Amino acid sequence: MLSAVRRVASANPAAMMRPLTSMTMTSAFSTSSSAYAPHNVKNITVFGSGLMGAGIVQVAAQNAFNVTMVDLNPEALKKGQDIIASSLKRVAKKQFPEDAAQQKAFIDKTMAQIKTSTDSEAASKDADLIIEAIVENLKTKQQLFSMLDKVAPEHTLFCSNTSSLPIGEIAKATKRTDRFGGLHFFNPVPQMKLVEVIRTEETSQDSFDSLMEVCTRMKKTPVSCKDTPGFIVNRLLVPYMMESLRIVERGEATPQDVDVAMKLGAGFPMGPFELADFVGLDTMKFIVDGWRKEGKIDDNLVAPVKLLDDLVAQGNFGRKSGQGFYPYNGVAGKK
Ligand code: 3HC
Repeated sequence: MLSAVRRVASANPAAMMRPLTSMTMTSAFSTSSSAYAPHNVKNITVFGSGLMGAGIVQVAAQNAFNVTMVDLNPEALKKGQDIIASSLKRVAKKQFPEDAAQQKAFIDKTMAQIKTSTDSEAASKDADLIIEAIVENLKTKQQLFSMLDKVAPEHTLFCSNTSSLPIGEIAKATKRTDRFGGLHFFNPVPQMKLVEVIRTEETSQDSFDSLMEVCTRMKKTPVSCKDTPGFIVNRLLVPYMMESLRIVERGEATPQDVDVAMKLGAGFPMGPFELADFVGLDTMKFIVDGWRKEGKIDDNLVAPVKLLDDLVAQGNFGRKSGQGFYPYNGVAGKK
């Protein structure tokens, strides 16, 4: 265990500055050990080729993992490849500003690390780590993992990128709850540095250490989270966005003024309404409704807001639909 912490620390200098956190973290969680210690993750299979899935595939491929991106059909995979191609262009331009040949070499090398597949079983045969980023539906995720549990190698670690469902509930569909955790990435994945690494009561220390290590090898900064609603970021972010909606609903300020206030007064890169449009208003509503049903969070924090419910009912989901609190020029376009 200590050697694993040292490995994480040497890969992530920030971790070396937090020896106390590592100790606290170790004593705060159960440390059941597992017979399987796949510390040498090489092959990653990602289920889901949407914005999050494609982003995870890209970041893994950029950092020399062999990655397979899986989705239900070639059209979905093509969309994922397009997301990766356009993001890689931005990254390449930033890394090699004046050198078109190096940009191309970087893009080609990254793309060569990525395979695509619509065959879930075949795509899981060599996986050391499977990351699921499919639709936010507990049953669908459980069905996928139940199937994968039967076909993936024993040592394979399973992870969900869910933003709001309990990892422990998804893991229950498998017999490898000790090798199951959460890896929660943030949008846009290639740009956002954080990954929340979620461990359930049953996630083994070896599995947790491996996940932390994978994140640092992806050049992300991992933080350890318990399996609680919203983990850390969404637990704070979603109630904040809901409270912003209430300010507007009470007529105290406009969305524009709230956004300007939080950008210029609190230094946030986006105001709460811009962020809500970016995350997706349907996603926000899904998270809040789910938490309210679960009953684990103070009712006042997750009370419904008519403004949000109405926009979602009208199909105004934010950037992805072209209209949210703000209009967008074309799907996912700029304001
Ligand atoms: N791929 C690669 N790089 C990207 C990118 C992408 N898709 N999108 C943005 N970037 C990079 C740009 O290259 C640029 O890099 P640089 O600063 O090093 O040159 C940087 O991001 C800024 O991009 P832009 O100049 O185009 O645009 P902005 O300055 O307006 O920034 C933003 C865009 C990065 C999205 C910024 O507004 C931001 O950080 N917003 C907050 C995002 C956030 O909070 N995300 C978390 C949402 S919650 C979540 O995902 C959890 C889920 O469970 C709900």
